[in-house]
Amino acid sequence: MKRNLFILLLVLIVFSIGGFLYLNQREVPIEQVFPGKIWAKPIENLPDLKGVGATTAKNCGNCHTEIYEEWQRSTHANALTDIQFQSELAKPSSPKWICLNCHIPVQNQRETIITGLRNGDYFRPVEIPNPNFNPDMKEEGVTCATCHVRVDSQTKESYVIGGTGGTSPPHPIKIDRKQLLNRCYDCHNETYTLNESLVCSFQTGTELQATHSSQTCSSCHQPEVRRSFVKTSLNKPIRTSHKHGFIGGGVPKRFDLYPDQIRLGYKPGIVLSRLKVENETIEIEIKNKNADHHVTTGDPERFYRLSLVGLDFKGNSIFQTETTIGQEWSWSPQAKKVNDTRIPSGKVYVWKLKQTDLPVVSYLFQATHVRLKNVTSDYMSLSSGYLTSPYKEKVEKIKELYPHSSLVIESLYHVNTKSRKDTPLEDLFKRNAERKGE
Ligand code: HEC
Ligand code: HEC
Ligand code: HEC
Ligand code: HEC
Ligand code: HEC
Repeated sequence: MKRNLFILLLVLIVFSIGGFLYLNQREVPIEQVFPGKIWAKPIENLPDLKGVGATTAKNCGNCHTEIYEEWQRSTHANALTDIQFQSELAKPSSPKWICLNCHIPVQNQRETIITGLRNGDYFRPVEIPNPNFNPDMKEEGVTCATCHVRVDSQTKESYVIGGTGGTSPPHPIKIDRKQLLNRCYDCHNETYTLNESLVCSFQTGTELQATHSSQTCSSCHQPEVRRSFVKTSLNKPIRTSHKHGFIGGGVPKRFDLYPDQIRLGYKPGIVLSRLKVENETIEIEIKNKNADHHVTTGDPERFYRLSLVGLDFKGNSIFQTETTIGQEWSWSPQAKKVNDTRIPSGKVYVWKLKQTDLPVVSYLFQATHVRLKNVTSDYMSLSSGYLTSPYKEKVEKIKELYPHSSLVIESLYHVNTKSRKDTPLEDLFKRNAERKGE
């Protein structure tokens, strides 16, 4: 009797351990853990493109010279080499493969193929080596092929997706402008809570649709330009083309990219629609005139700082105040949005202040788009231990190497004459190239 009980117990234990091991080790398909999520998987390995070779941006650049040069200066091209991205990616709490799906989105850019998740756990991907890994393409971030190259399901050959038609390319092409234009939504319009502290929160597409605007993301972020699609030696006609600098908030990923921001289409979303000093009050109106989505719209840590400085007759600062427009999140113990003062498209933000008794002769107003706070980059430098060379050294010098913010509006208001003088954007961007920190 005792012996039988003992055997029964043993069998039970063996089965439970086996069951536990099976459940714990079983490989669950990614689709099952993230149903319907395009970003959960990279674009499949792309075979060499007929007439081109490997589908790297560098190869596309052999003929599409100008588009390639513009794209090279974009945040897309820097989506992997971004110092802040590398710092966050290296944290033990980052599910790296998920981050890479949006920042290097083509399978050829990845050393390994993920075949599934152990027990459905996104921290335990099952990886096998990728025979089609292309290390040069990896460095290209959101590369041309992200939007433009796919595999034909029948022929298994790569082809290019174009938006114009009537062209004569040396590579296979299918025209589907709608698909090209909608591609932005896959990465820029996602709200997903992975766990208490990892939240993806970009609603740019939803914000745009709510305005019923007829514009697309590309209307503003890929301004039109008349030119040949390719280098002049190929003798192709002049057509309506689109700049590929994908300029956004005017804070580029490196200081040497500042001179290209305006050339490639930068415009602040907000304008200073009113600055009035009257009857003891100062009234400042900021309008979201140029963006058909909220300002700010992207990373939740972005914000605008508005500052007002009162100057005396000698030009000395005798009064100073500031406020911010943006989202406020509390990240621990649970990620949560606690405040949101962003300006929806077409709306006005009013900043009202009491005039001081001080002898202010003029007021200097400034609006600064902040991408990264000093405290955050200080913290990144301190925790650079997770990183390896060359990013370790770069993160340690992040203040020197990484633009944190850009001054995009400046206006001087004279109290007596009630007149206003705005600093030209070009001058501000020369100064931005020299400014450091937030
Ligand atoms: C050997 C030169 C060459 C290379 C390399 C090349 N292209 Fe092209 N591409 C062309 C030419 C030529 C055209 C047609 C231009 C015209 O007729 O105005 C074209 C047209 C296009 C179009 C526009 C089609 C349309 O009608 O909208 C797209 C998009 C495009 N190429 C993307 C790419 C991408 C992405 C790569 C790299 C994977 C690439 N090309 C590599 C020569 C090249
Ligand atoms: C595969 C994902 C993906 C797709 C598709 C995509 N983007 Fe992006 N985009 C990114 C990532 C990632 C970044 C930020 C990289 C970084 O900051 O390191 C970015 C940055 C940007 C920025 C720069 C913001 C700034 O202030 O620097 C703009 C503008 C932008 N994207 C517009 C677009 C548009 C327009 C489209 C569609 C034509 C598009 N994106 C499609 C992933 C994507
Ligand atoms: C009517 C023009 C317009 C349209 C349409 C538009 N944008 Fe923008 N976008 C802007 C302007 C202007 C800015 C700069 C805002 C600022 O910093 O003042 C901007 C900024 C951005 C940024 C930088 C991040 C930030 O918080 O400022 C991203 C990313 C972006 N847009 C993505 C998109 C995507 C994706 C779409 C389509 C769903 C889109 N935009 C549609 C004009 C537009
Ligand atoms: C984030 C998505 C995205 C990336 C990355 C991207 N493009 Fe495009 N591209 C577009 C869209 C969208 C259009 C179509 C715009 C339209 O027709 O309104 C376009 C248009 C084109 C065209 C047609 C001519 C024109 O200017 O409209 C060519 C050629 C082209 N892209 C080549 C490239 C090359 C080469 C690269 C890489 C160096 C690249 N693209 C990177 C989204 C992208
Ligand atoms: C669904 C696609 C997607 C995924 C997944 C994703 N990102 Fe991004 N990431 C973006 C887009 C789009 C932007 C551009 C937003 C902007 O410019 O404000 C961006 C921008 C960034 C930036 C730059 C922020 C700035 O203000 O310059 C960092 C850093 C970053 N991502 C880190 C990560 C990390 C770490 C992960 C993984 C935990 C990750 N991302 C996963 C789409 C994604």
